[in-house]
Amino acid sequence: MRTLISRRRIATRIRTLARDIEHDYKGRRIHLIGVLKGACIFLSDLVRELDGPVSIDFMAVASYGKGKESSGQVRLLKDLDSSIEGRDIILVEDILDTGLTLDYLCRVLRQRRPNTLKIAVLLDKPSRRQVEGIQADYVGFEIPNEFVVGYGLDFGDMYRNLRDVCVLSAPVEH
Ligand code: IMP
Repeated sequence: MRTLISRRRIATRIRTLARDIEHDYKGRRIHLIGVLKGACIFLSDLVRELDGPVSIDFMAVASYGKGKESSGQVRLLKDLDSSIEGRDIILVEDILDTGLTLDYLCRVLRQRRPNTLKIAVLLDKPSRRQVEGIQADYVGFEIPNEFVVGYGLDFGDMYRNLRDVCVLSAPVEH
């Protein structure tokens, strides 16, 4: 296990992201939608840095099996509790990798006619993208093609509790 992004850098970057978001929304109410389970820690830290009116909801999807490779299919496991019609939405995800998950979620959410829909991710692996045209409006860190765990990210549902974003030492097959 090797630390890629320390807890200090994460905290500093999230404060900056929150200021960027506040600047863009200028006091309008923001509805954050976290993608379970990976985004729960990022969302928890981000929402506490935001001043002004914010509400939160969660969706759960399954896109990865127990390993490091995407199944390529996204399934909705838990839907939102409330309507997003006419609201200003920021979809909060742990990592933008192939883009399949966020592409699927954005298509689902756009059908529900939000006023605006933006994406915030802690991590972005641009070299892995499979879906063209999907990009995040707020990115914590761009990272190389390495499988990372910690700060919400898992391997086989483990390591989410690590405070730093770390690289698993075993080589990645993708
Ligand atoms: P995408 O659909 O390929 O963009 O992948 C999105 C999901 O894949 C994320 O929400 C993560 O759950 C998972 N994922 C992608 N890369 C990693 C990684 O390096 N570590 C842990 N999970 C990852």
